[in-house]
Amino acid sequence: MTPPTHRASVTLTDETTAKRVVDALSELFFEDQAAFAAFERPDGRWDVTVHFAAPPDQTLLRELVGHVVRQDIASTLVFDTIEAKDWVKASLEDLVPVAAGRFVVHGQHDRHRIPPNKLGIEIEAALAFGTGHHGTTRGCLLLLDHVLKAYQPRRVLDLGTGTGVLGIAAAKALHGKVLASDIDPPSVRVAEENAWLNGAGHLVDVIRATGFAAPRFAADGPFDLVLANILANPLRQLAGPMVRHLASSAQVILSGLLTHQAPAVIAAYRARGLVPLRHLKIEGWSTCCCARSGDVTATGRQCGDCTLCCKVMAIEELAKPASAWCPHCAPGRGCRIYPDRPAECRSFSCVWLVNELLEEHWKPSRSKLVLTTSEDGLEVRCDPGFPDAWRREPFRSELREWAISGETLDMTVVVIVGQRMTLLTPEREFDLGIVGPAERIVRELDGTRVVNATVTKASDLEQ
Ligand SMILES: C[S@@+](CC[C@H](N)C(=O)[O-])C[C@H]1O[C@@H](n2cnc3c(N)ncnc32)[C@H](O)[C@@H]1O
Ligand code: SF4
Ligand code: SF4
Repeated sequence: MTPPTHRASVTLTDETTAKRVVDALSELFFEDQAAFAAFERPDGRWDVTVHFAAPPDQTLLRELVGHVVRQDIASTLVFDTIEAKDWVKASLEDLVPVAAGRFVVHGQHDRHRIPPNKLGIEIEAALAFGTGHHGTTRGCLLLLDHVLKAYQPRRVLDLGTGTGVLGIAAAKALHGKVLASDIDPPSVRVAEENAWLNGAGHLVDVIRATGFAAPRFAADGPFDLVLANILANPLRQLAGPMVRHLASSAQVILSGLLTHQAPAVIAAYRARGLVPLRHLKIEGWSTCCCARSGDVTATGRQCGDCTLCCKVMAIEELAKPASAWCPHCAPGRGCRIYPDRPAECRSFSCVWLVNELLEEHWKPSRSKLVLTTSEDGLEVRCDPGFPDAWRREPFRSELREWAISGETLDMTVVVIVGQRMTLLTPEREFDLGIVGPAERIVRELDGTRVVNATVTKASDLEQ
């Protein structure tokens, strides 16, 4: 049995004061003399606890704390003794492993107890926030687990990383790079150490920054996923810069909000086009996952890593021809000018995105086919790199079925590769060659059956 340890605890008004107290005290004691822990309470105040190897001088300690905060607060310092416990473990006493979805956050002492089907994140209690025990960290990990089941973000940001716990979780789950940042220099150091401890040091880059005030955010963004477990006020202030650093189909996990603060924070993000998709409440704390409203359709589908329309569609306003990447597109990631994209892009309606009758295999990035509707029927644009994509199964058969059902309704199915068009009918494929914007397809009908198809100048039809 190790000797008893001696504890001093005080509750302070806010995080800054808690950190000032911890900073002041930690300068006076060596690592083997005292261990510090600072945790936010559900009421927004902060508990600072110090474990001493030897009984501290209580008067001196009150005096020291009194220099940092008011003397009347210093007088609320409570001293007690924890019998026969390892004093380092005592500061970790609550730190039993925390499970959240696929993740388990644990200390070194529990390293061997992590089930093989879980992703362990080893975090030692330190001055930084984020051992997994707080409702906000747990909420973020649960929503991260949920988001990653359906979404593979490439550019991930952990804003306000604390111990690095969320960034490390994302890097390990995705086997990908994560940018992590914190306003607080000790947290940056701790997060870096934890990333290496978890075998993710090469994946997690930790920088010191206040909000988005560093060039790295623009260089590494736009982000597909942002994890931001900060407090309500900074989160509200960061809504504008955050949205400017998001990829077009990004998701954002916001936390650090007391449940009564959540509506105001969510409103700030909603005003900038983000809508809440999922909301968790844990121990009085809210965690919310949001996405851009334009990207959340009635089907619940999102573009994700698809950017195919930005290649196959012509955008007149940008003088962008069909079958050429738009200069504003980061292929696979999204539009770099999303908030300011042209009206044609805003009104573009991708059938897969809005119509759940089109099954998952039609997702354009997978099928290499973008489907849109026109006055005449359905237009199927092929990725020029895969001009025969529409001939592959099951697409060919499904297109034929639509051609059969469309014929009686006078609805056409046209396949477009570059500017070359093919009209599909139940019996034939009419290769119409290159059809310019001023030209029209003319069908010759026998009843409802298409017997021939030609291309004519639109002006000739008007005469
Ligand atoms: C509640 S802790 C979250 C830590 C960790 N991400 C987690 O989920 O457990 C909030 C962290 O955000 C940092 N922070 C607060 N305001 C910030 C700001 N404006 N910019 C960057 N980091 C900030 C704090 O230093 C702290 O480490
Ligand atoms: S083709 Fe459809 S799913 Fe793909 S990026 Fe465009 S709108 Fe989104
Ligand atoms: S402006 Fe943006 S949305 Fe429009 S085509 Fe270019 S990258 Fe795509």
